[in-house]
Amino acid sequence: MKQTILFPSGFFDVCRVDEDMEAEYEAVAATGLYHVVLYEYEQWFHGGRLVLHNKPSYPVEAVYRGWMMKPEQYRRFFDALRQQDISLVTSPEAYELLHIFPRIYPLIRKDTAPILVYPEGTQPDLEEIKTHFCRFMVKDYVKSVKGTAFPAFFSRDITREEFDRWMKLFYQYRGELFTGGICVKEYLSLRRYGGKINEYRVYYVKGEILSVSRNAGQGDWTPEPPQKLLEKYKNLDSPFYTIDYAELENGIWMILETGDGSVSGLSEGQSGEAFFRALQKGLTAEKRNADGSLFP
Ligand SMILES: Nc1ncnc2c1ncn2[C@@H]1O[C@H](COP(=O)(O)OP(=O)(O)OP(=O)(O)O)[C@@H](O)[C@H]1O
Ligand SMILES: [Mg+2]
Repeated sequence: MKQTILFPSGFFDVCRVDEDMEAEYEAVAATGLYHVVLYEYEQWFHGGRLVLHNKPSYPVEAVYRGWMMKPEQYRRFFDALRQQDISLVTSPEAYELLHIFPRIYPLIRKDTAPILVYPEGTQPDLEEIKTHFCRFMVKDYVKSVKGTAFPAFFSRDITREEFDRWMKLFYQYRGELFTGGICVKEYLSLRRYGGKINEYRVYYVKGEILSVSRNAGQGDWTPEPPQKLLEKYKNLDSPFYTIDYAELENGIWMILETGDGSVSGLSEGQSGEAFFRALQKGLTAEKRNADGSLFP
């Protein structure tokens, strides 16, 4: 039986895939390996109603590819789909674990920058931050506000007034999308090649590496992350997730962030068709223990 993929529909035409997901949709179609279901974007995100197109008439397991949701929203999405006999491969628990950085942090702390966490409703404590970090960057539990006027990092010489002013702007930029609280990270010295950092996005599916791709527009000749490190994190508690790794100036590789596989974008230039072929294989592969017996 074909695997099922769930995409958001377009804003203007609910019978077509979301304009931003068209390339993936085409790649999925080109593999011939999937049945595609659409859910109406507007109805779900602004009306809380799940309206499906092209739903199979029998129960299926499905993979979601589309927009990020907050963990509570993903749980409702998961439950609403269940009621329509569609079981997403990623449980709400697995989604939250990989999507919310402070949740995954204890499991990856040896290979990522140290963080300080300030849950929603509490104030980031600048004095405390300064005692821990010379340079630091600000994200919420999910995203930064990269590409805006907000500074990529702060130094210890920032004053409380300046910091408070910037933080006001941070909340404005994130707006409705603000998730969980503030996550302050030590700002690392990343190695650059031709001005670009050397970041890779690795997708994992059911305990295997699905793809490894350059994720910062760097040249195709830059060093790759050590296989041993990539293997170390292939068994986190989710069937489908991403980890972004980057090279430091001293040559060590660190994790920059993790993500749920369903809501993480492919790298620029990554082959969608190869990705969806590998995904189908990874999802359906029989897993065997060293003694040849099947995984439970
Ligand atoms: N700890 C760090 N030290 C130095 N630079 C960092 C660190 N973490 C992230 N960066 C830089 O900031 C960029 C954005 O960070 P990150 O990927 O964590 O946020 P994001 O909002 O999810 O961005 P994107 O949409 O690009 O994934 C990274 O691509 C990298 O250049
Ligand atoms: Mg990133």
